[in-house]
Amino acid sequence: MTTPRAGNPKESPEARPRMAFMVAGTRQYQGRTMKESHAHLNITPREWDRMVTIFKEILAKHKLPATETQELLDIVESTKADNVVSGG
Ligand code: HEM
Repeated sequence: MTTPRAGNPKESPEARPRMAFMVAGTRQYQGRTMKESHAHLNITPREWDRMVTIFKEILAKHKLPATETQELLDIVESTKADNVVSGG
């Protein structure tokens, strides 16, 4: 059975497999590391916090149960050190 392709057609070809790997650990990801992908963006702690707030709002809007919400927030949080500039 084929899986219908949905979502943003502009997303990078690596984004979907990477997210799938991080969330479910179901496949091997061979793209860039989180640090390689985000270091040049200079994301500040303040910007990171805003992203987390928006992410929570989206999960709540879709009524994701508390357990799954926390699991996703934990995964996102585990990438913070690689995504946020230090001292910003
Ligand atoms: C404030 C937070 C974040 C911002 C502003 C941000 C922004 C971006 C941008 C602009 C890119 C493309 C970089 C480039 O190709 O030059 C990127 C790549 C990516 N980001 Fe983020 N990101 C954030 C947090 C996250 C988080 C929390 C995750 C996953 C848990 C994530 C997953 C990815 C992935 C999978 C890629 C593609 C990596 C690849 O090309 O191999 N990002 N992000």
